Amino acid sequence: MSFETLPKKATLQIDNQNLELPLVEGTEGEVALDALALRKETGVISLDPGYGNTGSCTSGITFLDGEKGVIHHRGYLLRDLAENCDFLEVAYLLMSGELPNEARYAQWLGMIKENTFLGPMLQELLNHYPVRSHPMSVLASVVLSLNGFYGDLGHEVFNGIELDAVRLLAKTPLIAAHNFRRKRGMGYIYADPDMGYAENFLYSMFSKRLPEERRKIMSEALEKLLIIHADHEQNCSTSTVRMISSSNANVFAAIGGGIGALWGPLHGGANEAVINMLEDIAMQGQDLQEVVRRAKDKSDPFRLMGFGHRVYKTYDPRAVIAKEVVDDLLVKLGVDEPLVQTAMELEKIALEDEYFVKRNLYPNVDFYTGIAYKAMGIPKEMFTVLFSMGRMPGWLAQLIEFRADDSRRICRPRQIYTGPEQRDFVPMSER
Ligand code: SDX
Repeated sequence: MSFETLPKKATLQIDNQNLELPLVEGTEGEVALDALALRKETGVISLDPGYGNTGSCTSGITFLDGEKGVIHHRGYLLRDLAENCDFLEVAYLLMSGELPNEARYAQWLGMIKENTFLGPMLQELLNHYPVRSHPMSVLASVVLSLNGFYGDLGHEVFNGIELDAVRLLAKTPLIAAHNFRRKRGMGYIYADPDMGYAENFLYSMFSKRLPEERRKIMSEALEKLLIIHADHEQNCSTSTVRMISSSNANVFAAIGGGIGALWGPLHGGANEAVINMLEDIAMQGQDLQEVVRRAKDKSDPFRLMGFGHRVYKTYDPRAVIAKEVVDDLLVKLGVDEPLVQTAMELEKIALEDEYFVKRNLYPNVDFYTGIAYKAMGIPKEMFTVLFSMGRMPGWLAQLIEFRADDSRRICRPRQIYTGPEQRDFVPMSER
């Protein structure tokens, strides 16, 4: 990705050595220190655990302004995309770089629909996982196994998008839906080619037992929720996808690793943790002031799940859209969900509390989304699977971009060793 090298440089003084390092600037004015020459010229490395101050790459896919709460994908504001596009249109934008015209969109839909099925062997594979398996473990391992089903079929390209990427986009919802059904002793449902992406997922999960009118209402909400999860620059799971891709591993290995990273409750697993937190509060009649006090207590491992973000130091713009979707969905479904009230009261108390204000801790994308999924009748163990479905085009777009970057190298961070100094070996008889 292109960036401007700035006229002014940074000068680093180490002992009596001065090193000038270039400064580079991105499209939206972000500035970075180009540290490529640092170790070669000085023998010194930078140390940045958690990479809070370190850019791993340049990218033209998503821009975040964490201070202003702005996110755009390939230059288009997320809100514009959420209000005007369906999920596959946004997926095409992320993966190809442009919004499709009608002809391209029809071609794209055709590619996806052609791959929207699970063959008998894949259905059978899913049937053999222990029923108690967490859906994220099943999704990660089935995605890795796709290499056995498709890995040797080559990588035909569709406008820069590999066929394996199309397969992953098309099949992920079906893997999730069939895993839900086989755990309940129900059979596989073949997708309906006349349905959209989110609607087919709901149909594949709930069959026609879910009345069409409710399915349409839920699909409209789900399309928006998938869009707000689609990409988020170099978050933990996307960085994992890039890391795995850097060894030239195949797309299924990289995405399987990304799913594993997203599962953690500090990352995508937070949407499941938020509902568990809200349900505990409701069932145990916990005092919300006490909940917030515990979240601030360093001696207590409890954290306010769905709050805080490494990049956003203001309200996560995705959380704003998610709350709007929740409010609209509950009204249209005629669902009275008391957890919304609990969440809003918790948010109000936290946002008026000096601890949260001082640390710029606001609701993030995970704070409200679980309430929408719960209203749709989706079990909470599947919430992070839905996050994976939404993030799939982002992971794939970042992988495609990484592979197209001629300057790419295997990702291999350095370290500062703090263990014992070199010492002589001691045979066991003398220890
Ligand atoms: C996602 O990176 C992305 O883009 C991720 C994501 C995406 O789309 O890919 O946006 C998706 O993962 C959203 C985040 C979901 N996770 C949660 O909701 C879990 C709860 N949140 C926290 O664990 C935390 O806020 C993180 C993990 C999200 C961010 O951690 P950081 O950036 O490492 O911040 P930190 O832990 O250093 O916190 C700074 C301070 C600390 O206090 P002090 O040491 O300064 O006294 O804020 C406190 C923290 O203790 N803090 C919290 C808190 N989050 C941070 N205190 C109470 N409750 C919280 N939720």
